[in-house]
Amino acid sequence: MKTQITELFGIEHPIIQGGMHYVGFAELAAAVSNAGGLGIITALTQPSPDALAREIGRCREMTDKPFGVNLTFLPSRNPPDYAGYVRAIVDGGVRIVETAGNNPQQWLPALHEAGIRVIHKCTSVRHALKAESIGCDAVSVDGFECGGHPGEDDVPNFILLPRAADELRVPFVASGGMADGRSLVAALAMGAAGINMGTRFVATEEAPVHRKVKQAIVAATELDTRLVMRPLRNTERVLNNAGVERLLEKERRLGADITFSDIVEEVGGVYPRVMQDGNLDAGAWSCGMVAGLIQDIPRIGDLIDRIMRQAEEIVATRLQGMLSRG
Ligand SMILES: Cc1cc2nc3c(=O)[nH]c(=O)nc-3n(C[C@H](O)[C@H](O)[C@H](O)COP(=O)(O)O)c2cc1C
Repeated sequence: MKTQITELFGIEHPIIQGGMHYVGFAELAAAVSNAGGLGIITALTQPSPDALAREIGRCREMTDKPFGVNLTFLPSRNPPDYAGYVRAIVDGGVRIVETAGNNPQQWLPALHEAGIRVIHKCTSVRHALKAESIGCDAVSVDGFECGGHPGEDDVPNFILLPRAADELRVPFVASGGMADGRSLVAALAMGAAGINMGTRFVATEEAPVHRKVKQAIVAATELDTRLVMRPLRNTERVLNNAGVERLLEKERRLGADITFSDIVEEVGGVYPRVMQDGNLDAGAWSCGMVAGLIQDIPRIGDLIDRIMRQAEEIVATRLQGMLSRG
């Protein structure tokens, strides 16, 4: 299957693995890229630019296919050394960067001068248009169902994707709720040139996280996610657990007076405890509604082959059959 996204990034299948904190290590990125998709290392999981440089080197030892790096710009009083991370990406010869969070404008000249393609992930048509106008090469459009930060507009992909298709000139991928060949065909039908998946890639053999995390995603249904930090306008979709219920109770009790320091126990430093130690109740960790569609823990090569086979079957047999019967 050839799309604007496979052409732009030089990949075989139009499937991207989105950046994921404490999941997007070299092992995952290399496995996705080796399977013909686009794997992405998450920069901020690495404690320093030097550590990111080493992670990029490790990834290159595991794959000779294209892979990318995610740079997430978070609201922070004590911002990470973004200039250092950008240098590590450029010096490491990475060709693709996924930006997310705030506007990436400040970093685009350095990335583009190095010949790097930038795909910006955002949750609204207005932010997607902004990304296009500042020169991003592609956009990843994250619907309300997504794991992680869905923004504050709450527009699901059945509306958001065709709206994006009507407005954007750069190619875009559908993100949020994508799991299988049905998702891929639906995304293409709505004008996207591929899909970006987060939660689905966590529940795979190669994802370098505790087995309990994968099993929790398989056990979860589409009813088991919650939105946290809405009062702080930093909404995150997470898997429900004891820590999340404690957090939501604080949000109810403190109302508009709530501050980040009130909930630091449930949202600060949670990822290593969940992803590495398997302490699932440590606090809030991202998970999409798509958990309801995830029933197994496959190898990534098998997952991607299955998605592509199912997509081709839907187009060539199911949809084509409907037309020819007419
Ligand atoms: C455990 C987890 C951690 C994530 N961490 C990040 C992150 O650090 N930066 C980022 O841009 N997106 C992050 N995301 C969002 C994903 O890249 C992707 O956009 C999202 O998961 C898509 O929705 P889906 O889970 O329905 O596939 C994370 C998602 C998950 C599930």
